[in-house]
Parts: sequence; structure tokens; C-alpha cells
Amino acid sequence: MSSTSSRSQGGGRTAPSPHGAAVIDVYAALPAGLYRYDPVHHCLALKRAADVRSMTGYQDFVGMAPLDLVYVANHGRMQDVPPKLHETFAAAAAGAMVQNVYLYCASAGLGAVVRGWLNRRQLAEHMSLNEDEEPILSQTVGRPAPHDSAPV
Ligand SMILES: Cc1cc2nc3c(=O)[nH]c(=O)nc-3n(C[C@H](O)[C@H](O)[C@H](O)COP(=O)(O)O)c2cc1C
Repeated sequence: MSSTSSRSQGGGRTAPSPHGAAVIDVYAALPAGLYRYDPVHHCLALKRAADVRSMTGYQDFVGMAPLDLVYVANHGRMQDVPPKLHETFAAAAAGAMVQNVYLYCASAGLGAVVRGWLNRRQLAEHMSLNEDEEPILSQTVGRPAPHDSAPV
């Protein structure tokens, strides 16, 4: 999870965000539960003791790989952003984080697949999110399957 960890000085991140407001939260959906990544303490905080991996997309490999990351836009932290730019800014911020994970995976011999095709409302319910929070991307991480780009 080094993709979103703080820079060593100044409390910054390795992904940009509008006004430095950290408008995207990263969740890790693991077999044992759903965890929110805490970038300040660089740790995972349990959100739900439930396996929600299969809710993070529609394809068959979803739910089979060991890890699905979910990028959640926090609209409450975008009060300084004009409403018509919320979606663009959230997508750009999440995209930078997604790319960091792709780069890490490439360096570690892992596979990754990002997904925008997901049932946001249903996933938000399974993640126990509030009305300010919206899952906008998910990303499966795992070992690349032979003859297949989908991670397992
Ligand atoms: C914004 C965005 C949304 C995407 N949504 C999905 C998706 O819902 N399901 C999926 O399988 N791949 C999705 N992808 C991944 C692309 O299909 C994939 O990156 C492309 O086929 C190239 O494959 P590669 O990344 O393995 O090189 C998405 C990529 C982007 C940038």
C-alpha cells in the first residue's frame, strides 16, 4: 500500500489531490474483512468483518483474487471544489492512486485490473458507507494467471 503512503516530510502523499484535501479513501477488501487504509498511520482499520470482494465488480475473477482495492470519493471533503467539478476531480485523484498501484504491481510481479464498471449503490451498501461517500473505482490485485491478464 505504499501507493498512498505519506511522503517522509511534510505529511504529503505520493498521489495528488485537489487542495490537498485527500478526497479519496482507499479500502482493502480482503477475505477476512473490509479495511480502510489510514495513510497517516500507514495501517488498515477494520470497517466490516465481511468479505465484500465479489461486490467490487461483475467479472468472474472478481472475488477470486486475494485483494480488491476500492477508491471512495468523499464529497464532504470537496466543499472548496465547485460541484460541477466534483466528479472530474475525484476521478483524477483516484486515477493517480490507481496508477501508483499499477506501478508497484509491475515492480513486484503482480497483476492488477482497475474497474469503473461496478454497482456503486450496492457496493456502498455492503461497505456501510455514508451518503457523502461514493465508490468510484475498484482494482483487483493478485498473481497474474497463466495465459490470462486477470489476477488471481
Ligand atoms: C477508467 C477505467 C475503467 C476501467 N473499467 C474496467 C472494468 O470495469 N472492468 C475491467 O475489466 N477493466 C476495466 N478497465 C481496465 C481496462 O480494460 C484495461 O486497462 C485495458 O483493457 C488494458 O489492459 P491492461 O491494463 O491489462 O494493459 C478500466 C480502465 C480504466 C482506465
